[in-house]
Amino acid sequence: MRIGIIGGTGGMGEGFALRWCQSHDIIVGSRDVARASESAKNYSNIANTKYGNKFKGSINGDDNISMSGRSDVLLLSIPYDTIVETCGKLKQVIDDKCIVVSPIVPMTRTDAGFIYIPLERNSKPAAELVADNLPPRNRILSAFHTISEMKLKKIDMSLDADTFICGDDNTNVTILSNLVSEIMGLRPINLGPLSMSYQAEILTPMILNAARRNKLKNPGLKLVE
Ligand SMILES: NC(=O)c1ccc[n+]([C@@H]2O[C@H](COP(=O)([O-])OP(=O)(O)OC[C@H]3O[C@@H](n4cnc5c(N)ncnc54)[C@H](OP(=O)(O)O)[C@@H]3O)[C@@H](O)[C@H]2O)c1
Repeated sequence: MRIGIIGGTGGMGEGFALRWCQSHDIIVGSRDVARASESAKNYSNIANTKYGNKFKGSINGDDNISMSGRSDVLLLSIPYDTIVETCGKLKQVIDDKCIVVSPIVPMTRTDAGFIYIPLERNSKPAAELVADNLPPRNRILSAFHTISEMKLKKIDMSLDADTFICGDDNTNVTILSNLVSEIMGLRPINLGPLSMSYQAEILTPMILNAARRNKLKNPGLKLVE
């Protein structure tokens, strides 16, 4: 599968690239093609060192727009405030069958702690904003909100965590669930349609507040029965 990562030069982008490159072709995207190529080279070096001959996929860099048209799955690994502008550009180029995944958490820090921006600004959850700006809605999914980049980047670490997946199209949810399951120790939990995404997004500021006040290091989330 060809997985494009918009904003792949950031911390989460590195984690996604390193976790999936064993068996997929990764395209690290950036607004700046030189930065994309540099990051792809660095990630490839890490993957070669860690995976050796089990590194069966590839990691290359390109600018966000060019690589979007070649991606089967596209991760939007960018800040909340950049959704409208970025999606406006992607809309022209992405394939109708491309699955778009938002790990985006609309979050900021105040004196009281981390807060969920849509509640503060009366704005839309990240997944809804993506769906509005990158139709059709069926191709949009959301996941990975409570996964720490520090853990995702440590490719020999089992995450021992769950991640909630939201999406309106069951086939696309299954495809993403399979990709999630390929990440060591990560379990996909179907939370329902995309309209439920706010419930996953809002968990991140909550977890970070708890972590800060209780000195917990990069905690994750796991449902127990
Ligand atoms: N960090 C975490 O632990 C974590 C955990 C869960 C979810 N998330 C979510 O995952 C997403 C990515 O997280 P991150 O920490 O990797 O983000 P980040 O480092 O803040 O940004 C990722 C990339 O976004 C691109 N970018 C920045 N400003 C932009 C703009 N105005 N227009 C287009 N692209 C822009 C940059 O790439 P270029 O400059 O190369 O274009 C940057 O490397 C965020 O939405 C975050 O809320 C993060």
